[in-house]
Amino acid sequence: MIIRLEHVAKRLGGKDVLVDVNLEVPEGQTCVVIGRSGTGKSVLLKHISGLFSADRGRIWIDGEEISAMRERHMARVRRKIGFLFQGAALFDSLTVGENVGFFLREQGGMSEREIAAAVALNLERVKLPGIEHVMPADLSGGMKKRVGLARALTMNPRIILYDEPTTGLDPITADAINDLIIEMRDQLGMTALAVTHDMASAFKIGDRIVMLHQGRVVFDDSVENTKRTENALVRQFVEGRASGPMTEDILTPDLLVRREGQGG
Ligand SMILES: Nc1ncnc2c1ncn2[C@@H]1O[C@H](COP(=O)(O)OP(=O)(O)OP(=O)(O)O)[C@@H](O)[C@H]1O
Ligand SMILES: [Mg+2]
Repeated sequence: MIIRLEHVAKRLGGKDVLVDVNLEVPEGQTCVVIGRSGTGKSVLLKHISGLFSADRGRIWIDGEEISAMRERHMARVRRKIGFLFQGAALFDSLTVGENVGFFLREQGGMSEREIAAAVALNLERVKLPGIEHVMPADLSGGMKKRVGLARALTMNPRIILYDEPTTGLDPITADAINDLIIEMRDQLGMTALAVTHDMASAFKIGDRIVMLHQGRVVFDDSVENTKRTENALVRQFVEGRASGPMTEDILTPDLLVRREGQGG
Protein backbone atom coordinates (compact mmCIF):
# COMPACT_ATOMS: atom_id res chain seq x y z
CA MET A 1 0.00 0.00 0.00
CA ILE A 2 1.58 3.25 -1.08
CA ILE A 3 -0.88 5.31 1.01
CA ARG A 4 -2.14 4.06 4.37
CA LEU A 5 -4.16 5.83 7.06
CA GLU A 6 -5.05 4.24 10.36
CA HIS A 7 -7.55 5.79 12.81
CA VAL A 8 -6.76 9.34 11.71
CA ALA A 9 -8.52 12.08 13.68
CA LYS A 10 -8.34 15.85 13.37
CA ARG A 11 -10.17 18.65 15.15
CA LEU A 12 -10.25 22.03 13.38
CA GLY A 13 -11.99 25.25 14.38
CA GLY A 14 -13.73 23.50 17.28
CA LYS A 15 -15.14 20.73 15.07
CA ASP A 16 -14.17 17.06 14.84
CA VAL A 17 -13.57 17.03 11.10
CA LEU A 18 -11.85 13.65 10.81
CA VAL A 19 -13.03 11.26 13.53
CA ASP A 20 -11.62 7.86 12.59
CA VAL A 21 -10.39 7.58 9.01
CA ASN A 22 -9.00 4.29 7.75
CA LEU A 23 -7.87 4.10 4.13
CA GLU A 24 -5.39 2.17 2.02
CA VAL A 25 -4.48 2.86 -1.60
CA PRO A 26 -2.39 0.35 -3.55
CA GLU A 27 0.21 1.54 -6.05
CA GLY A 28 -1.13 2.52 -9.47
CA GLN A 29 -4.74 2.89 -8.35
CA THR A 30 -6.95 5.95 -8.68
CA CYS A 31 -9.10 6.14 -5.57
CA VAL A 32 -11.91 8.71 -5.62
CA VAL A 33 -13.16 10.29 -2.41
CA ILE A 34 -16.71 11.62 -2.46
CA GLY A 35 -18.67 13.34 0.26
CA ARG A 36 -20.64 16.45 1.02
CA SER A 37 -19.18 19.90 1.09
CA GLY A 38 -17.40 20.60 4.37
CA THR A 39 -17.06 16.95 5.25
CA GLY A 40 -13.26 17.07 5.34
CA LYS A 41 -12.15 15.86 1.92
CA SER A 42 -9.63 18.65 1.39
CA VAL A 43 -8.48 18.25 5.01
CA LEU A 44 -7.88 14.56 4.29
CA LEU A 45 -5.71 15.34 1.26
CA LYS A 46 -3.75 17.89 3.30
CA HIS A 47 -2.95 15.21 5.88
CA ILE A 48 -1.65 12.87 3.19
CA SER A 49 0.53 15.60 1.69
CA GLY A 50 1.86 16.54 5.13
CA LEU A 51 0.35 20.05 5.14
CA PHE A 52 -1.69 19.10 8.23
CA SER A 53 -0.64 16.75 11.01
CA ALA A 54 -3.17 14.42 12.61
CA ASP A 55 -4.24 14.76 16.26
CA ARG A 56 -4.49 10.98 16.48
CA GLY A 57 -3.79 8.02 14.22
CA ARG A 58 -0.99 7.11 11.84
CA ILE A 59 -0.22 7.83 8.17
CA TRP A 60 2.25 5.99 5.96
CA ILE A 61 3.43 7.10 2.52
CA ASP A 62 5.36 4.55 0.50
CA GLY A 63 6.18 2.58 3.65
CA GLU A 64 7.33 5.55 5.72
CA GLU A 65 5.31 6.81 8.63
CA ILE A 66 4.93 10.54 8.08
CA SER A 67 2.85 11.01 11.22
CA ALA A 68 5.97 10.28 13.27
CA MET A 69 8.36 12.25 11.12
CA ARG A 70 10.27 15.43 11.82
CA GLU A 71 9.82 18.38 9.47
CA ARG A 72 13.23 18.07 7.80
CA HIS A 73 12.52 14.45 6.79
CA MET A 74 9.05 15.38 5.60
CA ALA A 75 10.46 17.41 2.70
CA ARG A 76 11.84 14.22 1.15
CA VAL A 77 8.48 12.42 1.39
CA ARG A 78 6.60 15.47 0.14
CA ARG A 79 8.56 15.30 -3.09
CA LYS A 80 6.85 11.98 -3.83
CA ILE A 81 3.49 13.73 -3.81
CA GLY A 82 2.04 16.13 -6.37
CA PHE A 83 -0.96 18.21 -5.36
CA LEU A 84 -3.49 19.75 -7.73
CA PHE A 85 -5.20 22.18 -5.38
CA GLN A 86 -8.90 23.00 -5.39
CA GLY A 87 -9.13 25.98 -7.77
CA ALA A 88 -5.60 25.30 -9.13
CA ALA A 89 -3.99 27.95 -6.84
CA LEU A 90 -1.66 29.46 -9.42
CA PHE A 91 0.48 32.46 -8.47
CA ASP A 92 -1.24 35.33 -10.31
CA SER A 93 1.83 37.54 -10.59
CA LEU A 94 3.97 34.82 -12.19
CA THR A 95 3.80 33.61 -15.80
CA VAL A 96 2.64 30.08 -16.60
CA GLY A 97 6.27 29.03 -17.09
CA GLU A 98 7.32 30.49 -13.73
CA ASN A 99 4.35 28.78 -12.06
CA VAL A 100 5.15 25.37 -13.54
CA GLY A 101 8.86 25.71 -12.72
CA PHE A 102 8.23 27.11 -9.25
CA PHE A 103 9.03 24.03 -7.14
CA LEU A 104 12.09 23.15 -9.24
CA ARG A 105 13.50 26.65 -8.82
CA GLU A 106 12.68 26.64 -5.10
CA GLN A 107 14.37 23.29 -4.62
CA GLY A 108 17.56 24.55 -6.29
CA GLY A 109 20.30 22.53 -8.00
CA MET A 110 18.98 22.91 -11.55
CA SER A 111 20.15 25.36 -14.23
CA GLU A 112 17.63 27.72 -15.83
CA ARG A 113 17.98 25.70 -19.04
CA GLU A 114 17.10 22.45 -17.28
CA ILE A 115 14.14 24.10 -15.59
CA ALA A 116 12.92 25.48 -18.93
CA ALA A 117 13.16 22.00 -20.45
CA ALA A 118 11.20 20.44 -17.57
CA VAL A 119 8.56 23.16 -17.82
CA ALA A 120 8.18 22.59 -21.58
CA LEU A 121 7.90 18.81 -21.10
CA ASN A 122 5.20 19.11 -18.45
CA LEU A 123 3.19 21.68 -20.41
CA GLU A 124 3.26 19.20 -23.30
CA ARG A 125 2.06 16.45 -20.97
CA VAL A 126 -1.05 18.48 -20.15
CA LYS A 127 -1.51 19.39 -23.85
CA LEU A 128 -0.63 23.07 -23.46
CA PRO A 129 2.75 23.35 -25.19
CA GLY A 130 4.38 26.74 -25.63
CA ILE A 131 2.26 28.87 -23.30
CA GLU A 132 5.10 29.68 -20.87
CA HIS A 133 4.79 33.46 -21.35
CA VAL A 134 1.00 33.65 -20.69
CA MET A 135 -0.28 35.12 -17.40
CA PRO A 136 -2.75 33.03 -15.29
CA ALA A 137 -5.41 35.78 -15.59
CA ASP A 138 -5.58 35.11 -19.34
CA LEU A 139 -6.28 31.38 -18.95
CA SER A 140 -9.68 29.67 -18.99
CA GLY A 141 -10.71 27.57 -15.97
CA GLY A 142 -9.76 24.33 -17.73
CA MET A 143 -6.37 25.69 -18.74
CA LYS A 144 -5.68 26.79 -15.16
CA LYS A 145 -6.34 23.27 -13.91
CA ARG A 146 -4.02 21.86 -16.56
CA VAL A 147 -1.25 24.32 -15.66
CA GLY A 148 -1.76 23.36 -11.99
CA LEU A 149 -1.38 19.74 -13.01
CA ALA A 150 1.79 20.51 -14.99
CA ARG A 151 3.21 22.21 -11.88
CA ALA A 152 2.31 19.17 -9.75
CA LEU A 153 4.04 16.87 -12.25
CA THR A 154 7.39 18.70 -12.40
CA MET A 155 8.74 16.95 -9.31
CA ASN A 156 7.99 13.55 -10.90
CA PRO A 157 5.78 12.47 -8.02
CA ARG A 158 4.70 8.87 -7.50
CA ILE A 159 1.45 9.97 -5.95
CA ILE A 160 -0.84 12.73 -7.10
CA LEU A 161 -3.64 14.29 -5.11
CA TYR A 162 -6.43 15.94 -7.11
CA ASP A 163 -8.76 18.25 -5.20
CA GLU A 164 -11.92 18.82 -7.27
CA PRO A 165 -10.13 18.61 -10.63
CA THR A 166 -13.28 19.15 -12.71
CA THR A 167 -15.39 21.41 -10.48
CA GLY A 168 -16.53 24.60 -12.22
CA LEU A 169 -15.65 23.37 -15.72
CA ASP A 170 -18.07 22.80 -18.58
CA PRO A 171 -18.70 19.07 -19.25
CA ILE A 172 -16.44 18.91 -22.29
CA THR A 173 -13.50 20.63 -20.61
CA ALA A 174 -14.12 18.49 -17.53
CA ASP A 175 -13.91 15.36 -19.63
CA ALA A 176 -10.60 16.46 -21.13
CA ILE A 177 -9.28 16.70 -17.55
CA ASN A 178 -10.68 13.22 -16.83
CA ASP A 179 -8.76 11.88 -19.83
CA LEU A 180 -5.55 13.50 -18.58
CA ILE A 181 -6.00 11.97 -15.12
CA ILE A 182 -6.47 8.54 -16.71
CA GLU A 183 -3.36 9.11 -18.83
CA MET A 184 -1.30 9.93 -15.72
CA ARG A 185 -2.27 6.55 -14.28
CA ASP A 186 -1.92 4.48 -17.45
CA GLN A 187 1.20 6.09 -18.94
CA LEU A 188 3.11 7.24 -15.87
CA GLY A 189 1.86 4.57 -13.43
CA MET A 190 0.83 7.25 -10.98
CA THR A 191 -1.13 6.46 -7.82
CA ALA A 192 -3.91 8.98 -7.27
CA LEU A 193 -6.36 10.11 -4.67
CA ALA A 194 -9.01 12.34 -6.23
CA VAL A 195 -11.65 14.30 -4.37
CA THR A 196 -14.75 15.22 -6.32
CA HIS A 197 -18.50 15.94 -6.24
CA ASP A 198 -18.71 15.19 -9.95
CA MET A 199 -20.04 11.64 -10.16
CA ALA A 200 -19.54 11.38 -13.93
CA SER A 201 -15.88 12.16 -13.34
CA ALA A 202 -15.66 9.84 -10.32
CA PHE A 203 -17.00 6.90 -12.31
CA LYS A 204 -14.74 7.61 -15.26
CA ILE A 205 -11.39 8.20 -13.55
CA GLY A 206 -11.81 5.99 -10.48
CA ASP A 207 -10.83 2.39 -9.90
CA ARG A 208 -12.55 2.63 -6.58
CA ILE A 209 -14.91 4.97 -4.71
CA VAL A 210 -14.66 5.90 -1.05
CA MET A 211 -17.27 7.98 0.73
CA LEU A 212 -16.35 10.24 3.64
CA HIS A 213 -19.19 11.12 5.99
CA GLN A 214 -19.11 12.60 9.49
CA GLY A 215 -15.39 12.03 9.80
CA ARG A 216 -15.35 8.39 8.74
CA VAL A 217 -15.08 6.29 5.60
CA VAL A 218 -18.63 4.94 5.39
CA PHE A 219 -18.32 3.25 2.00
CA ASP A 220 -15.44 1.75 0.03
CA ASP A 221 -15.98 -0.30 -3.12
CA SER A 222 -15.21 -0.65 -6.84
CA VAL A 223 -16.79 1.72 -9.36
CA GLU A 224 -19.00 -1.07 -10.69
CA ASN A 225 -20.34 -1.92 -7.24
CA THR A 226 -20.80 1.77 -6.40
CA LYS A 227 -23.06 2.22 -9.42
CA ARG A 228 -25.44 -0.44 -8.18
CA THR A 229 -25.01 -0.15 -4.41
CA GLU A 230 -28.05 -0.05 -2.14
CA ASN A 231 -26.13 1.99 0.46
CA ALA A 232 -28.57 4.83 1.13
CA LEU A 233 -25.90 7.49 1.77
CA VAL A 234 -24.12 6.69 -1.48
CA ARG A 235 -27.38 6.46 -3.45
CA GLN A 236 -28.47 9.87 -2.22
CA PHE A 237 -25.14 11.35 -3.22
CA VAL A 238 -24.92 9.61 -6.60
CA GLU A 239 -28.48 10.59 -7.50
CA GLY A 240 -28.03 14.11 -6.08
CA ARG A 241 -31.22 14.10 -4.00
CA ALA A 242 -31.83 16.65 -1.22
CA SER A 243 -33.99 14.23 0.75
CA GLY A 244 -32.53 11.08 2.26
CA PRO A 245 -30.37 9.98 5.18
CA MET A 246 -28.09 13.01 4.80
CA THR A 247 -30.90 15.59 4.99
CA GLU A 248 -30.74 16.21 8.72
CA ASP A 249 -27.03 16.73 8.31
CA ILE A 250 -27.65 19.32 5.59
CA LEU A 251 -29.86 21.35 7.91
CA THR A 252 -27.72 21.16 11.04
CA PRO A 253 -24.18 20.16 10.10
CA ASP A 254 -22.46 21.78 13.09
CA LEU A 255 -24.76 20.19 15.65
CA LEU A 256 -24.23 16.73 14.21
CA VAL A 257 -20.47 17.01 14.02
CA ARG A 258 -20.34 18.19 17.63
CA ARG A 259 -22.56 15.37 18.83
CA GLU A 260 -20.27 12.90 17.07
CA GLY A 261 -17.25 14.45 18.79
CA GLN A 262 -18.77 14.12 22.25
CA GLY A 263 -19.63 10.48 21.61
CA GLY A 264 -15.99 9.63 20.87
N1 LIG B 1 -7.34 25.54 8.57
C1 LIG B 1 -8.56 25.33 9.07
N2 LIG B 1 -8.92 25.86 10.25
C2 LIG B 1 -10.14 25.64 10.79
N3 LIG B 1 -11.08 24.89 10.19
C3 LIG B 1 -10.78 24.34 9.02
C4 LIG B 1 -9.51 24.52 8.39
N4 LIG B 1 -9.51 23.85 7.23
C5 LIG B 1 -10.71 23.26 7.14
N5 LIG B 1 -11.48 23.55 8.20
C6 LIG B 1 -12.85 23.07 8.44
O1 LIG B 1 -12.87 21.68 8.25
C7 LIG B 1 -14.09 21.27 7.64
C8 LIG B 1 -13.80 20.45 6.41
O2 LIG B 1 -13.24 21.28 5.43
P1 LIG B 1 -12.79 20.75 4.00
O3 LIG B 1 -12.24 21.93 3.29
O4 LIG B 1 -11.91 19.57 4.14
O5 LIG B 1 -14.17 20.29 3.37
P2 LIG B 1 -14.41 19.62 1.96
O6 LIG B 1 -15.01 18.28 2.19
O7 LIG B 1 -13.17 19.68 1.15
O8 LIG B 1 -15.53 20.60 1.34
P3 LIG B 1 -15.72 21.13 -0.17
O9 LIG B 1 -16.39 20.01 -0.89
O10 LIG B 1 -16.63 22.31 0.01
O11 LIG B 1 -14.39 21.49 -0.71
C9 LIG B 1 -14.89 22.54 7.39
O12 LIG B 1 -15.81 22.68 8.41
C10 LIG B 1 -13.84 23.62 7.43
O13 LIG B 1 -14.40 24.83 7.87
MG1 LIG C 1 -12.56 20.72 -0.49
